[in-house]
Amino acid sequence: MRLAMILVAHLFLSPATGITSEPIEPIVIPTDLNPTKVSLGRRLFNDPILSANNSISCASCHDFKRGGADGKSLAIGIHGRKNELNTPSVFNSALNFKQFWDGRAESLEEQLDGPLHGENEMASTWVQIIQKLQQDPAYLAEFKKVYSSQPNENNIRNAIVTFERSLATPDSKFDRFLRGETHALDGQEREGYRRFKDYGCIACHQGRNIGGNMFQVFGVMGNIFSDRKKLTRGDLGRFNVTQKESDKHRFKVPSLRNVALTAPYFHDGSASTIEDAVKIMGKYQLGRDLSAKDIELISRFLRSLTGKTPEGNAR
Ligand code: HEC
Ligand code: HEC
Repeated sequence: MRLAMILVAHLFLSPATGITSEPIEPIVIPTDLNPTKVSLGRRLFNDPILSANNSISCASCHDFKRGGADGKSLAIGIHGRKNELNTPSVFNSALNFKQFWDGRAESLEEQLDGPLHGENEMASTWVQIIQKLQQDPAYLAEFKKVYSSQPNENNIRNAIVTFERSLATPDSKFDRFLRGETHALDGQEREGYRRFKDYGCIACHQGRNIGGNMFQVFGVMGNIFSDRKKLTRGDLGRFNVTQKESDKHRFKVPSLRNVALTAPYFHDGSASTIEDAVKIMGKYQLGRDLSAKDIELISRFLRSLTGKTPEGNAR
């Protein structure tokens, strides 16, 4: 009996932290980042100089006023070129096990070449970028100060990635609840969280980022793509990386952190509201027709995942 009680206590309350043992952990702010690198990276992230014709910056698509995304169904890049995928948030992206919808980049370092060189994104080359930064006296001075060197591929990459690692969004209502402030969530939000767990959303959207740690097929319980007129390459998901039939329509499960700020949803931006997205998830990922009440409560819970927006704009 005593043992059982100790076990129960151990399961639900970790004595070291006082944090209830829930399947999701709160966001923590990284403390090991060099602030001068973070600030140089912030400047680069906001500077259109990184694009071929100086027209578009990382922040054009990853806007901090839009939850680190762009509010569009599909991203629009240089010369107004349309991409085939929706822009995910850069917030908390350091927590993802891989980067991109199809997980083709193992790290943020590796991810960076995607947007810099993408013909429909910034369409630039390292040679152009390095040349332009080396001709800019302010950048020359800053790189000298921070890296004791001229701008080069390594230090430019390091600065931008260090900035990206700083983009944590702590202190959402839900995280405060996890840290023991039971009333940070109201009754409906707590009930929404309970249903999120009970229905099994948590099987895929889990861990500190409430997603971002596994691949799953979109349409486990029914083919959501079958009634589409046209499939894009983007719809194939991880298949584009592995060419395996079983990876068709398989995507990195997206993080649900700050999801209230990043509509529209899904890899193709096809759901315009949280409620739409939750309904589709119920049907195609869990094989359930969620009631209007379920959808409302779960959506309320999802809106409690909005954390503090990190500092964004350098200019
Ligand atoms: C034209 C809009 C656009 C620009 C400019 C852009 N991105 Fe993105 N970003 C996207 C899209 C779209 C994706 C998803 C692409 C994919 O999955 O293939 C993405 C994905 C990412 C991801 C992965 C997030 C995740 O959860 O997988 C990171 C990190 C990122 N971008 C950082 C950057 C940085 C840094 C820059 C500037 C060098 C940048 N982006 C410029 C649109 C853009
Ligand atoms: C079997 C795994 C799985 C389950 C279960 C699951 N999801 Fe998802 N979820 C995904 C995948 C994969 C995507 C990305 C789909 C896409 O865009 O192609 C996604 C996307 C989402 C999105 C859109 C996020 C964005 O930024 O675009 C929301 C919101 C969401 N899920 C909520 C839920 C809720 C609520 C439940 C439970 C009712 C749930 N999910 C159950 C795998 C799952």
